[in-house]
Amino acid sequence: MTVTLRPTQVLTGTPTLLGVDHLELWVGSARAWASFLSSTFGFVPVAYSGPETGVRDRVSYVMAQGTIRYVITSSIVSNSPIAEYVKRHGDGVRTIAFSVDDAAMAFETVVARGATPVAIPSRSKDDFGTMTTASVGTYGDTVHTFIEHDKYTGLFAPSFKAAEGFVVPPGKPANLTRVDHVVGNVGRGDLDRWCDWYARIFGFTELAHFDDETIATEYSSLRSTVMWNGGSVVMPINEPAEGRRKSQIQEYLDYFESPGVQHVAMHTSDIVGSVTALRERGVRMLRVPVEYYDDAKRRMEGIDLPWDTLAELGILVDRDPEGYLLQIFTETVTDRPCMFFEIIQREGAKGFGAGNFKALFESIEREQAKRGNL
Ligand SMILES: [Fe+2]
Repeated sequence: MTVTLRPTQVLTGTPTLLGVDHLELWVGSARAWASFLSSTFGFVPVAYSGPETGVRDRVSYVMAQGTIRYVITSSIVSNSPIAEYVKRHGDGVRTIAFSVDDAAMAFETVVARGATPVAIPSRSKDDFGTMTTASVGTYGDTVHTFIEHDKYTGLFAPSFKAAEGFVVPPGKPANLTRVDHVVGNVGRGDLDRWCDWYARIFGFTELAHFDDETIATEYSSLRSTVMWNGGSVVMPINEPAEGRRKSQIQEYLDYFESPGVQHVAMHTSDIVGSVTALRERGVRMLRVPVEYYDDAKRRMEGIDLPWDTLAELGILVDRDPEGYLLQIFTETVTDRPCMFFEIIQREGAKGFGAGNFKALFESIEREQAKRGNL
């Protein structure tokens, strides 16, 4: 196994990203997606925009839990960039938004460094203050938006109001706290170019790299590099590698019809409680064979864990020199076999579950085989 951990060095002159502000999904039906996130993952609608708030071409629901916010948007007209996106990709993450102190300066800095402008800085205002946003393109049809709140005290942004009439179904709280990392899939041979792009444009550095021998099953393999800002913005990138059968990353690229976000990992401080709640609420998770836990117990020697409960819930475990982590992956949540979620509890560990890659990918391949795509 080859895993390289490299020290952080932040370049000067790059925008300071304060964190992931929100993720915006462009989907076929925002109402259905909002209900799904509410009933299964326990998200609460905190804001809404649409015709009732003066927006004529789209509806958006802001779904929140902990500091995680998903903005779920669909077009209500046939001729719009949202409709075009959904026609080509199906439902997916359009925007990974970063909080910044100065959106105009962040935009100008990254455009000067070669980023493609998508939306120039624009200020919007209502009774609760002003906000400035600006966007640049990244892999595929995905964009990064800079959000400058400037003491804005409204529910989300001007043009949003409370999501009235939305009934949150009962269920145990999932207690998801924050976005841990956001993973992108890019085309074969493009991984290094995109890592260089994040280094050049955003001053990101490489936190870890996993080569195709680490992430290989009998059938397929992939390469992955974790880029980050040295703080809370952590963005692994995957590319497919040569294998006996089709890489799961290639299956994503074929169905999404471009690079894009593969999964969003959400942190919890109690994964047993979270996964118990999520399973009861109907979230479908990947399963590993029971033999996984024989090997896992050996790898985790000296750490006291509730093994029977972990096995019952299908929670995976891994360790690195700094601690351990517990994680689990959902099945794909989009109709196309593309996007899924990860739930992760970190107890000191800064890794991504390299010890689980084989078992996890074999589990993904079982699903891929059911679809006739392996
Ligand atoms: Fe992950």
